[in-house]
Amino acid sequence: MKDSNFLKENNARHMWHPMAHPAEMQATTPYIITGAEGVKIRDIDGREVVDAVGGLWCVNLGYSNTAIKKAITDQLDRLPYYSAFSGTTTDPAIELSYELREFFAEDGMARAFFTSGGSDSVETCLRLSRQYHKIRGDHGRTKFLSLKKGYHGTHFGGASVNGNNRFRTMYEPMMPGCFQIAAPYTYRNPFNESDPAKLSDLVIASLADEIEFQGANTIAAFIMEPILGSGGVIVPHESFMPKVRELCDRYGILLIADEVITGFGRAGSWSGVRHWGVQPDMMATAKGITSGYIPFGAAMIGHKVAEVFERDETGTASIGHGYTYSAHPVGAAAAIACLAETRRIDPRANAAERGVQMYAGMLKLQKKHELIGDVRGGHGLMTAMELVSDRATKKPHMSAGKVVMKEAYENGAMIRVSGANILISPPLVIGEAEVDAILSALDAGLTKAASA
Ligand SMILES: Cc1ncc(COP(=O)(O)O)c(C=O)c1O
Repeated sequence: MKDSNFLKENNARHMWHPMAHPAEMQATTPYIITGAEGVKIRDIDGREVVDAVGGLWCVNLGYSNTAIKKAITDQLDRLPYYSAFSGTTTDPAIELSYELREFFAEDGMARAFFTSGGSDSVETCLRLSRQYHKIRGDHGRTKFLSLKKGYHGTHFGGASVNGNNRFRTMYEPMMPGCFQIAAPYTYRNPFNESDPAKLSDLVIASLADEIEFQGANTIAAFIMEPILGSGGVIVPHESFMPKVRELCDRYGILLIADEVITGFGRAGSWSGVRHWGVQPDMMATAKGITSGYIPFGAAMIGHKVAEVFERDETGTASIGHGYTYSAHPVGAAAAIACLAETRRIDPRANAAERGVQMYAGMLKLQKKHELIGDVRGGHGLMTAMELVSDRATKKPHMSAGKVVMKEAYENGAMIRVSGANILISPPLVIGEAEVDAILSALDAGLTKAASA
């Protein structure tokens, strides 16, 4: 490794960071992380802190899982790459598809299409959903509906169904035929409705209205995160997703669950949709599939969709979609090991308990700190607090987060700030004392921000 001065000086001279202003990254060196163990990360100056971000919602099993690391190095030694494009495949790809089908059987999934990450998985679901309708002769169904505040990655398809202008405005025009409706976001919504059950009904009514307006026979799919992650951990009322499912069924629209964050235990269940008792038609997964150790993802295909493709007699079901790294054997080997470890460790109960501890701790912080307008969570290790400059007007506080982040780091925790939201998503194997450490680092950060 180069020395610390070289790295600090050269950080953003030769690379652009995702989701950052290049000049800002040149002016202020970000935290340079050089090592990690368990649920802690270590920076270039030797400081160790608890990782309250889980890498980026992905390091579900912590940083020291030797089984996943060994699977990666063993596979690299044996076969570092071969393609899964028609005509060839590899043994880890076959084994993983078998394992994943078992893992998501309860969610109605039948097949896997492998990708290199979350955006790829979303793209795959969107493209295959259009093809599904075309195979059936339903050529008019090309549009997509989604939720404002939703995040579905940054490929043009995913960004077109995203519900946050930050990822769209500078890249417009987006893909035509994508329409967003208000999210079931109790703290802020155009209906001024603070009762989650009533809000759920209002959003469902607006979805039905949008479907009628667009014409049901023009819509390919509705995509949503079962719990909205990057948009600020927005947890829909339990009635919401079952009613979405009903509407999709009534109007012949496919339901895509974006499980890139919620899959593999983060929400306290193996999939986010299981919280709501819903089976989607497709699921986009990534992140926790390899615990972030290596880029990988899978679009899971439900029985209804799989049957249409596999029983096709028109010749239109040939899949004209895929990536060089689809089913990459090293990624697949990592995912097989990660699935086995995820099953063995079974972090669901810990994620649920520690998630409740974090959520309760944040609610306590809200009583102490005026800056906190809203606290959201309660379903696994997905929690957020939204900062406001005035509780009465709910004006989002867009600058306090950075102060909180810096001070929290000084006090032992890496947190993540996105706009006015502080997002907390540590590894699912985190302990009680480490959750307390994150809460007290947040407390110190909020105290500092209040006096800044
Ligand atoms: C719900 C959701 N979908 C898709 C993505 C995109 O995944 P990736 O960044 O791996 O492309 C993300 C990333 O955070 C996500 O949270």
